[in-house]
Amino acid sequence: MLKDKITAIVLAAGQGTRMKSSRPKVLHEILGRPMLAYLIDTLKGVGVADIVLVVGHQAELVQESYRDYGVRFVVQEPQLGTGHAVQVAWPAVPADTRTVMVLCGDAPLISGESIRALNRLHDKTGAAITVQTIELDNGAHYGRVVRDRHGQVAAVLQAKDSQDRPEILAIREINTGAYCFDATFLQDALGKILKSPVTGEIYLTDLIKVAREQGRGVEALVDTDRENLLGINSRAELAMATQTVKRAINARHLDQGVTLIDPEATYIESGVAIGRDTVIYPNVYLQGDTVIGENCVIEATVKIVDSTLENDVHIKMGCVITQSRLGTGADTGPFAHLRPGADLRAKVHVGNFVEVKKSVLHEGVKAGHLTYLGDADVGAGTNVGAGTITCNYDGEKKHPTIIGEGAFIGSNTALVAPVTIGAGAYVGAGSAITEDVPAGKLGIARARQVNLERRPVGNKKKK
Ligand code: UD1
Ligand code: MG
Repeated sequence: MLKDKITAIVLAAGQGTRMKSSRPKVLHEILGRPMLAYLIDTLKGVGVADIVLVVGHQAELVQESYRDYGVRFVVQEPQLGTGHAVQVAWPAVPADTRTVMVLCGDAPLISGESIRALNRLHDKTGAAITVQTIELDNGAHYGRVVRDRHGQVAAVLQAKDSQDRPEILAIREINTGAYCFDATFLQDALGKILKSPVTGEIYLTDLIKVAREQGRGVEALVDTDRENLLGINSRAELAMATQTVKRAINARHLDQGVTLIDPEATYIESGVAIGRDTVIYPNVYLQGDTVIGENCVIEATVKIVDSTLENDVHIKMGCVITQSRLGTGADTGPFAHLRPGADLRAKVHVGNFVEVKKSVLHEGVKAGHLTYLGDADVGAGTNVGAGTITCNYDGEKKHPTIIGEGAFIGSNTALVAPVTIGAGAYVGAGSAITEDVPAGKLGIARARQVNLERRPVGNKKKK
């Protein structure tokens, strides 16, 4: 935890032109979460609770999306550069703030350790500005860190302003866009930076010159965590960030005793919990608030969203499971669809091409093949035959189907809801059941078979 009173200003007003998107850049997602969610979590994790988000481009949409993240918003309109963004945010900084951290919203994967290291150096030296840098073979569009004869930071020069200065472009140390500022210095210096004659923007990095003129220290912390500090400016960089997050999450699960057959091909969102000895095959997507118990098997090409699996659950290939529960020892698939409210208790078997929605299947229910169960309550031990359909919708409303314990529903049955099948009752195959079947009885609702004499077919002449 950082001890001083710190305010973080996160710059997120830019458009993100290179994303070629109708959505603002900071709303693009990394493994199911909008990118700033990672940065906000990390800041809070190191004890920086006061976060000011500078929004501008499609400000309302960005504010709406991050409303529940416990941050404050400042609108920068128009967007005249990073220095301007901090000028606009300044009035939102509380008077007792000692250190102002500035971070770029498009570099959201900065680690807590990198933030702590930056702040540690800043505290130790009492600098006016401490800038985070990394070394790159090709500094591309990043600002170059110019050091003086004594190795002190003299300036950060923008690549686009230095196109005719190869000696500047050749500098390998670049500015990541994360800084610590002494709040007292910042208050005064922000009024002293002017528009760049080249681009017309007000650069935050021009504060370095102001500090030098005032004889104040400017420090740079060279961080080695390039992977997490490079910004996301394009779809290619977004894809790389997704891979970085995926690998970190998967490494944690491997470390905690989960087998991932192919970690590169397994996409687990950050909020998912998985018990030990669970085995996960390739092309599995585990999303949202999903909790998976111990010793489960999740076969290939499965998507599970906001669902809970107890222990020893077996999900066979090709299932889609959303807002559902599976009890201990339950199994499902291949190719089953569990929709919101599917509640499969212990040892339930749901087989291939079965869809379950908003239904409780009590312990030991078997629905092995080609079935739709919606708005149903199926008693323990009941067998649901192949091709059973709960006809729960009359075109206007949904109706329940109640099936007692130990019942047997014959194949190809339509249960026209609302309807109740009593405990231990049987339903004959091929029935369209529109009335209740009492407990222990056999309900059959289909035309009685007649076997007729065959008439000769066609007019083939006998030779
Ligand atoms: C900036 C730095 C550069 C650094 C790079 C790191 C300046 C002048 N340059 O360059 O030295 O290497 O970041 O990525 O600071 N933003 C606003 N309001 C604005 C302009 C930008 O909020 O008016 C936000 C953007 O949304 C973005 C961040 O500030 O999150 C950086 O802006 P960007 O335009 O990407 O700056 P760069 O030119 O890349
Ligand atoms: Mg950028």
